[in-house]
Amino acid sequence: MSALCDGRVVVVTGAGRGLGRAHALAFAAQGARVVVNDLGVALDGAPHPPGPTGARPDGPAAAVAAEIRAAGGEAIAHGGDIATSEGASSLVTTALETYGRLDTLVNNAGFLRDRMLVNLDEDDWDAVLRVHLKGHFLTLKHAAAHWRAQTKAGRTPDARVVNTSSGAGLLGSVGQGNYSAAKAGIVALTLVAAAELARYGVQVNAIAPAARTRMTQRTFAETMAAPATGFDAMAPENVSPLVVWLGSAASDGVTGRVFETEGGRITVMDGWRPGPTADRGARWSAAEAGETVRKLLTAAAPPGAVYGA
Ligand SMILES: NC(=O)c1ccc[n+]([C@@H]2O[C@H](COP(=O)([O-])OP(=O)(O)OC[C@H]3O[C@@H](n4cnc5c(N)ncnc54)[C@H](O)[C@@H]3O)[C@@H](O)[C@H]2O)c1
Repeated sequence: MSALCDGRVVVVTGAGRGLGRAHALAFAAQGARVVVNDLGVALDGAPHPPGPTGARPDGPAAAVAAEIRAAGGEAIAHGGDIATSEGASSLVTTALETYGRLDTLVNNAGFLRDRMLVNLDEDDWDAVLRVHLKGHFLTLKHAAAHWRAQTKAGRTPDARVVNTSSGAGLLGSVGQGNYSAAKAGIVALTLVAAAELARYGVQVNAIAPAARTRMTQRTFAETMAAPATGFDAMAPENVSPLVVWLGSAASDGVTGRVFETEGGRITVMDGWRPGPTADRGARWSAAEAGETVRKLLTAAAPPGAVYGA
């Protein structure tokens, strides 16, 4: 019986744990050959101290690749930092040199440095913007360069990119100014990439997931499996079916979209659209502009609540 991703080569960043691990296993179960990337950093992005042999003690990418192979699938580990050009380009090269092709890129790696804005250090800002936003851009750029070359050589691919945003990037989240800005940037990057890369046979979508991982274990710790059904709504494995479908050829025609997904729920997120508008046909005075804004706001839908507000 053919599986959804037979013949495809899929790269998943940050796949040593949590959501990325679940995605990698799910892609492999659907016949994909998987490049499992993970730098193996701590929750705040700090490097784990090297073990006695100099190697990272947990080697999460290698462990997940071994798990896939033990289940009869094909996988290779990549331990590079996707927020560096070297790491992102070597990730794409690993797929091409190991399996001869690249069909799907899942950008998922990241970490948190949560603080209220007044306490947020420049370093916390830079580190979080770097791993999420730059980490999405660099892998996308290197994969897209390969797909453009394929197209120019007359072999237009059927390629897919799945980016990882967050509810924090869509609605904002108190104590996560750096993370919310990075995740909102990922949505904008997704829209631009979908528009620019369509001509190279590339579809680009984003998800805003929620699941119990080390990143959210305090938030979702108390959410247990429903006693009646045994369904654990916060298991990361619930998010992966949508990611696998978006990363497969079956999602033909779906691009430039953002999906919120958690447990058994999938929601298409509607983006910014013009709401009530007024055009004076000339410059407003500040007082008139204010009066008009107040009128427009009475007709506008109230914004969604910022998480944690
Ligand atoms: N868990 C949730 O509810 C939730 C909600 C919204 C968004 N997200 C997003 O989902 C993604 C996965 O999060 P998770 O909850 O599985 O977290 P996680 O901490 O379990 O996994 C993230 C993995 O990324 C790896 N990583 C970090 N920096 C890296 C780098 N520079 N290069 C390569 N790998 C790196 C880490 O080592 C880790 O294994 C993240 O982008 C996160 O922001 C998660």
